[in-house]
Amino acid sequence: MKNDEKKKASRNKTMTLDANEIEKYRSRLVVLTKQAAPQEIINKTINQNLFEALDHLPDQFVDLMFIDPPYNLTKNFNGKTFTQMNNQEYTDWLASWFSRIVRVLKPNATVYICGDWRSSHSIFEVASKHLNVLNRITWEREKGRGALSNWKNASEDIWFCTKSNDYKFYVDRVKMKRKVVAPYRNEEGKPKDWENHDDGKYRLTFPSNMWTDLTVPFWSMAENTDHPTQKPEKLLAKIILASSDENDVVFDPFMGSGTTSVVAKKLHRNFVGIEMDETYCCLAEKRLELVESDFSIQGYSEGVFWDRNTLQAQTKSLFDTKQKKTSTSQTTNHSIDVVKRD
Ligand SMILES: C[S@@+](CC[C@H](N)C(=O)[O-])C[C@H]1O[C@@H](n2cnc3c(N)ncnc32)[C@H](O)[C@@H]1O
Repeated sequence: MKNDEKKKASRNKTMTLDANEIEKYRSRLVVLTKQAAPQEIINKTINQNLFEALDHLPDQFVDLMFIDPPYNLTKNFNGKTFTQMNNQEYTDWLASWFSRIVRVLKPNATVYICGDWRSSHSIFEVASKHLNVLNRITWEREKGRGALSNWKNASEDIWFCTKSNDYKFYVDRVKMKRKVVAPYRNEEGKPKDWENHDDGKYRLTFPSNMWTDLTVPFWSMAENTDHPTQKPEKLLAKIILASSDENDVVFDPFMGSGTTSVVAKKLHRNFVGIEMDETYCCLAEKRLELVESDFSIQGYSEGVFWDRNTLQAQTKSLFDTKQKKTSTSQTTNHSIDVVKRD
C-alpha cells in the first residue's frame, strides 16, 4: 500500500499492514465454494468476488444490509479499476446482482444503498423493483474536489429501503446534539428544551435526511486507512443504531476497509462482509481486532451524536458523566469510553 513506502508524519494515524500482519489476518479470511450455513460466515470477512460468493450465501440471514458499491466513476481499488459506464450499463450492472442478493434478507430487514448524484437514479430504479424505498439521505462531504466548469461535488446519497412495512426504526437512538440558535426560556426563566455547556447551549434534535455532521476519514483520524472511499464510522453508527438491535446480523457485500463490520462489532451486532481485495480484507481484520480494546466511535458519545467541532463540550460532558459514574460505582457504557477530535 502506498503509505508503507512513504515515511509517515508523526501525527499521521493512517492504518497500514506489515508482512506479518498480512499473513496473520489472511488466515482469518473465508472463501465460499458451496452453500454456507449462517454460523459458518457470521462475524467473518469473505474475501471473494461478490458474483462468485453470492449464490453460496444462506437465505434470509440478514437484518440490516449496508451496500456501498463502486459508484459510476472510474476508480482504482488497490490495482483493480472500476470503469465508468453509461447510465443504462450501470443500472444493468446493479440489477445483475441486486435481484440475486435480496433473498438473503429477513422479512423485516432494512437496506441502505450508497451513491452519488450520477448513480442515485440507477439505484432508485433497481431498488424500487425489489424493496420499499422510504427515503434518500443526503450527506455533506465537507471536502470535495473543486471544478472550474461545474459545481464542486460535496454531497452523497444513501437510499433507505425496507423489505416490508414491518421494519425496525429507533429514532431516539440517533438524536443529534446541536448548538441552539434561539435559546428560549420558560416563564420561570429556565431553559425550554436545551442545556448549558461550557462552550454554548445545546439541544437534542430529531435527525433529518440531511446529514451535515460527518467528517470523511483523513490522516489524523485513528479510523483512517488507505482505502480511497472509506466511509466514516459515525455514518455507520447512525444507520446501525437506527435500524438494528444488538445481536442482529449486519451484512455488507462491498465491505472495503471494513467500516460496517467494525461499527457493527463496536455496537454489539454480528457482521458479515464481502470484499474482493485481500489487502482491504486484512485491514478490516486488523480494525476488528483493535475493537477489542477500543469501542469508541468518533462523534458519538453518551448515546448521542454530536455536531462537528464540539469536542470541548463532548469532553466536558464526558468528564461530568465519568465523575458521576465513579461516585455511584456504575459500569461504563462503551459509547463514553473515549472521545477523539471530530
Ligand atoms: C465504495 S467501496 C466500499 C468502501 C467501504 N464502505 C469502506 O468504508 O471502506 C467498494 C468496494 O467494493 C469492492 N468491490 C468492487 N467490486 C466488487 C465485487 N465484484 N466483489 C466484491 N467486492 C467488490 C472494491 O474493492 C471496494 O473496496
